[in-house]
Amino acid sequence: MYGYYCLNPISQVGLKEFSKKYEQAELAEKADAILVRSADMHQTELAPGVAAVARAGAGVNNIPLEQLAKKGVVVFNTPGANANGVKEMVLAGMLLASRDIVGGIEWLKSQEPAEDLAKKAEKEKKKFAGCEISGKKLGIIGLGAIGVKVANAAVHLGMEVYGYDPFISVDAAWNLSRSIHHINDIAEIYRDCDYITIHVPLLKTTKKMIGKEEISHMKDGVVLLNFARDLLVDEEALCEALETGKVKKYVTDFANPVVAKAPNTLVTPHLGASTEESEDNCAVMAVKQIMDYLENGNIKNS
Ligand code: MLT
Repeated sequence: MYGYYCLNPISQVGLKEFSKKYEQAELAEKADAILVRSADMHQTELAPGVAAVARAGAGVNNIPLEQLAKKGVVVFNTPGANANGVKEMVLAGMLLASRDIVGGIEWLKSQEPAEDLAKKAEKEKKKFAGCEISGKKLGIIGLGAIGVKVANAAVHLGMEVYGYDPFISVDAAWNLSRSIHHINDIAEIYRDCDYITIHVPLLKTTKKMIGKEEISHMKDGVVLLNFARDLLVDEEALCEALETGKVKKYVTDFANPVVAKAPNTLVTPHLGASTEESEDNCAVMAVKQIMDYLENGNIKNS
C-alpha cells in the first residue's frame, strides 16, 4: 500500500488503492507520489520519498519538469482522459459565440415579471439574433485527443472541418478522423475559416503563436476559441483585433484579466475538464499510472 498527497482536490474515484491521504504536515516524511490537478506545483512540495508525480490532466505547464527530471522523479499526465469534457466546452463556446443566448437570458432576468413580458420579449428579441454554425468552416490547430474529438463532433453539427497539425502525417490524420480535411499549411486555416480553435500545448515554440501577424491573415469577423492555454495568444494583438472587429468573438477558458474586460469575449474560469466524468477519468488514469510504476516499474503515458 502506498501513500499519496493531492496538491488540490481531485476525484476520489481511483484513489482507493492508496492506503492513506497524507496531510500537508506529514507529506515530507511519507508520500510516495503526488497527484496534481491544475494548481502550480512547486519543487518545495516534493517529499524525499516521492518517486512519481501525476498530473491529472493533459497540460504539464504547472509542473516543474526540469527539476523533477534532475531528481529522477517520474512525471505522468493523462492525455485524452478529459478530452470529452473539453470538447463539450468548445462546442458550447462556438454556439455561445454564434447565438446571443447569454444576452437573451440576462435581458429576460433583468425584466419585471409583468404579464406582458412575453410580448415585450417578442419585440426585443431582434437584438439577440445570431447565426448558425452549420455550414461554416472550422479550423482546428492541433489534432491531439481534444482536437480530433472537436472535429468529429463539429462535422456532425454540419460544419466543414479543417485540421492542421505539423506532427501528424496525412495518413495518421485520416486514421484519426475521416471527416476532416487535413491541411498542411496553417495559412489556409487563417485564410478560410470562420471559426478557429487551438488545441496545442504551451511550449516555448507555441507561446504567443497567435499574434498580430497571424490575426491579420484571418478572415474578417473570425471567431477564435482557446481552450488550450492562455499564453498561446498574444493578448495585445487580440484586444486590438477585438476592438476593430477583425476578431468577432474570442472564447477562452482562461481568466486573463485584460482579455476578460475586452469587448466581445466569453471567458470561463478553466472549466473545460470540470465535469464529474473527466475528473474521474483523470484520477483513475493518474492512479493507474503511478501504481504500475511503483509496483512494476512500468512507465506508460497512454
Ligand atoms: C488540461 O490540461 O487537462 C486541461 O486544461 C484541463 C484541466 O487542467 O483542468
